[in-house]
Amino acid sequence: CTVLGIPRNTTLSLLDSTGAMVSIDPTIVKWYEFELFCVVPSYTFLPTDKEELFQNVLTQVAEQFSRAFKINELKTEVTNRVAMLEKRVERESHSTVSVCVFISPQRRSSLLHHSDSNFLDDKKKLTPRRDVPSYPKYHLSQETVEALRHPTFDVWQWETNEMLSCLEHMYNDLDLVKGFNMNPITLKSWLLCIHDNYQVNPFHNFRHCFCVTQMMYSMICLCSLQEIFTQVDILILMTAAVCHDLQHPGYNNTYQINARTELAVRYNDISPLENHHCAVAFQIFSQPDCNIFSTFDAEAFKQIRQGIITLILATDMARHGEILDSFKHKVDRFDFSDEEHVTCLKMVLIKCCDISNEVRPMEVAEPWVDCLLEEYFMQSDREKAESLPVAPFMDREKVTKPTAQIGFIKFVLIPMFETVMKLFPQIDKVMIQPLRESRDRYEELKQIDDAMREEEGKPTNLYQGMST
Ligand SMILES: *[C@@H]1O[C@H](CO)[C@@H](O)[C@H](O)[C@H]1NC(C)=O
Ligand SMILES: [Zn+2]
Repeated sequence: CTVLGIPRNTTLSLLDSTGAMVSIDPTIVKWYEFELFCVVPSYTFLPTDKEELFQNVLTQVAEQFSRAFKINELKTEVTNRVAMLEKRVERESHSTVSVCVFISPQRRSSLLHHSDSNFLDDKKKLTPRRDVPSYPKYHLSQETVEALRHPTFDVWQWETNEMLSCLEHMYNDLDLVKGFNMNPITLKSWLLCIHDNYQVNPFHNFRHCFCVTQMMYSMICLCSLQEIFTQVDILILMTAAVCHDLQHPGYNNTYQINARTELAVRYNDISPLENHHCAVAFQIFSQPDCNIFSTFDAEAFKQIRQGIITLILATDMARHGEILDSFKHKVDRFDFSDEEHVTCLKMVLIKCCDISNEVRPMEVAEPWVDCLLEEYFMQSDREKAESLPVAPFMDREKVTKPTAQIGFIKFVLIPMFETVMKLFPQIDKVMIQPLRESRDRYEELKQIDDAMREEEGKPTNLYQGMST
């Protein structure tokens, strides 16, 4: 809009080189290399609060992006191109005002993934919207519904409304809505409120919530968990997955503790983030419009609440060793009628889903590593600025994609999934095999990296990082 010199709230259409309308959705990112788009303004409308909010977010995003990625270079490049193209447009005397810009999908996706804002005290967002949930009822195709049941599902293809529809579908498909007499409108309001309470971090954002929940749903299907768990357990597993990173600020527990943030003070350094995610979840349930548990009696609610708290608190990676050890002790003589055993299994399951990106196909998994590193760099930059300890695996000077992933896949992911495999052998082919392939691929990439570094005479990066 700025380039066209038209009001900032003008609706724009995107046309491809043939003049066909292009839908502005994440599939654009999938188009390889550079694609020529034509940006055409259509009608104008009055700005609402939401648009203003969006503008603010965009401004913040632009600022962040600018700082992180030297936007001036990009700006000059785009300005030059626009000037050139405008001249061409003039020459060819098009009747409509339009400019063409090249948008690299990579740039577009990194633009979309940026932001830095602290909403921890944003009480407003906990209030459910008074109006009936308005996200269009996207009809999910039969193909989508089937694909949703597998870890191969392409999680990047969908915009927010579609992810919300998918989540809604999972609750229906698992018979949690009819079975527990849930109000379908409440389910929608709740999901919208969940979405509003995920921040636009590079990694810990609503799409991550969607991924974890979709992986949980895949595991429920793959391992026929409905045959061994009660429906209440299934409800706990799914709901804990949906809520597990609510209002994640993008800086981890160690940062919170070292920087003595409000969260660390409130929770006495004990899993500050996970305690917060969980508290936010139950603040949301305390709103009647969002209480999907309103049909349960007090006793059942207590049980569900305890279950969800236990699972969300189990996602603190500081407790990884403790939880996995406890599970290893039970797994060889696992007793599905023993409540303690079942609780431990549920904790391991949510942990698996939380860090399951590398289980997904390489094209789906790899962009998540960039997102994670971006969030890590944001943290380490801040730690340097505030003279706090910095972990080498978060340091942009020290870490690379392969070094970040190899150790994590070998020493965290594979051992945990192999332990779960003792109960559910079917995950070997579907979940562990992709992990082994990813490990091998990153080891190859690391060798190439090292060879290149040696050639450049730089010291070889020996650090094998851990990530969560
Ligand atoms: C959190 O960040 C610190 C650096 O401040 C790092 O040492 C620690 O390992 C990180 N924790 C996780 C779980 O990634
Ligand atoms: Zn998570």
